[in-house]
Amino acid sequence: MTRVPVIFSEQSQRTSDSPINFFIQQAVENPNSISLAAGLVDYASLPSDEVAEAVASVLSRRQAAQQALQYGVPQGHPPLREKLLGRALALDGVTARDVSLSVEDVVVTTGSQQLLYLLCELLVNPGDLVITEAPSYFVMQQTLESAGARSLSVPIDEQGMNPDALEEVLLGLERSGELSRLRFIYVVDYFQNPTGLSLSLPRRKRILELAQRFSRQHRILILEDAAYRELRYDGPDLPSIKSFDRDNAHVMLAYTFSKPLAPGLKTGFGLMPAELVAPLLHIKGNHDFGSNNLTQHLIERLLDNGSYDRHVARLCEVYRQKRDVLLKALADAFPPALGVRWTHPEGGLYVWMTFPEDVDTGTSSELMKAATREGVLYVPGQFCYLTGENCPSPSNEARLSFGVASPDQLKEAARRLGRAYRSTITQQRALAVS
Ligand SMILES: Cc1ncc(COP(=O)(O)O)c(C=O)c1O
Repeated sequence: MTRVPVIFSEQSQRTSDSPINFFIQQAVENPNSISLAAGLVDYASLPSDEVAEAVASVLSRRQAAQQALQYGVPQGHPPLREKLLGRALALDGVTARDVSLSVEDVVVTTGSQQLLYLLCELLVNPGDLVITEAPSYFVMQQTLESAGARSLSVPIDEQGMNPDALEEVLLGLERSGELSRLRFIYVVDYFQNPTGLSLSLPRRKRILELAQRFSRQHRILILEDAAYRELRYDGPDLPSIKSFDRDNAHVMLAYTFSKPLAPGLKTGFGLMPAELVAPLLHIKGNHDFGSNNLTQHLIERLLDNGSYDRHVARLCEVYRQKRDVLLKALADAFPPALGVRWTHPEGGLYVWMTFPEDVDTGTSSELMKAATREGVLYVPGQFCYLTGENCPSPSNEARLSFGVASPDQLKEAARRLGRAYRSTITQQRALAVS
């Protein structure tokens, strides 16, 4: 019998294969390679004992166990939300009253990715505009495309998103009459995925002021993705943009336990302007009417008994060492004469490399082929640029992650990448001469 075609929704047709599948495929096909591409966290430091204790503690008390194994409320376990709010405020050194927040503005989600997705569903109609950093977190790029958003991008430098360039984009939208289509500005402002760079304090204030100033007929929101905030290895913490949003009007702040605790727990949360909460929960209701309740009880336990704080402190030691090993190994493998630059992140999991302009890092590039032969995997920088209207897409960059590889593997990976690069440019120059 012939099979007649299935008709897919427009959203499905806008939703393409995730680049993550490319990295997984590559890792499977090259089992002896060292992956600096995977966004996984360090295996050895995952808190298995602490989580085992939390499971035993929650499940050994009959009433607590029954509560945790029952459906929870869609917004999240109330005592956990209290604690999440308290901790978020403490990070910023503000009170709930200072920033007009209450426990009713906290929403627990299945990882912060669910919050990003739900906010697109909540706020974006096909054709609406969203501003992001260039480069930016590539899964969000897919999410925006799937929602049918038109993306505009603003370049980042060592201090994060450039507010002068943002202002230009906003003025341009005002001139073209399209400001009314702008829904939000997305920033990953702590040790950004993919560059490892953070948004400076003056720019945090400036970006909020711009969102406020251009909110003439409707509110321009900021989606502040602080996934890596607590993974800081040097220097003082920076206040969130949210902490300057005194009326709780503009900033939607997304946190996750995936990076500072364990991605397997897949739990995140958001601090939301009050009027977004009910509509957001209506949509979340259609997705799952509540994130995993047992996990929320476990996280509450890990916060209460101090395991979480001890874990974050330990993790910062582990990643500081890995970052230092990778940076030193890159310096050894890429002497200045080679003309390759990379970022020196103060936290997070990523280093961003910029090769000379004529060196392509893409999936079918000579560098990628040479790196695969040498046995080292990286993320081509192009994946991290949106395909939007004013979006550049340089092809000479790469994201390296020091999350999952061991210090010895990081050293070896940098050596392999150095060899791959030297063989690529030698071949490229030979071709140019012949
Ligand atoms: C910047 C950023 N935001 C959000 C996420 C989503 O993570 P999760 O859904 O596991 O919280 C990630 C994961 O890598 C990320 O890098």
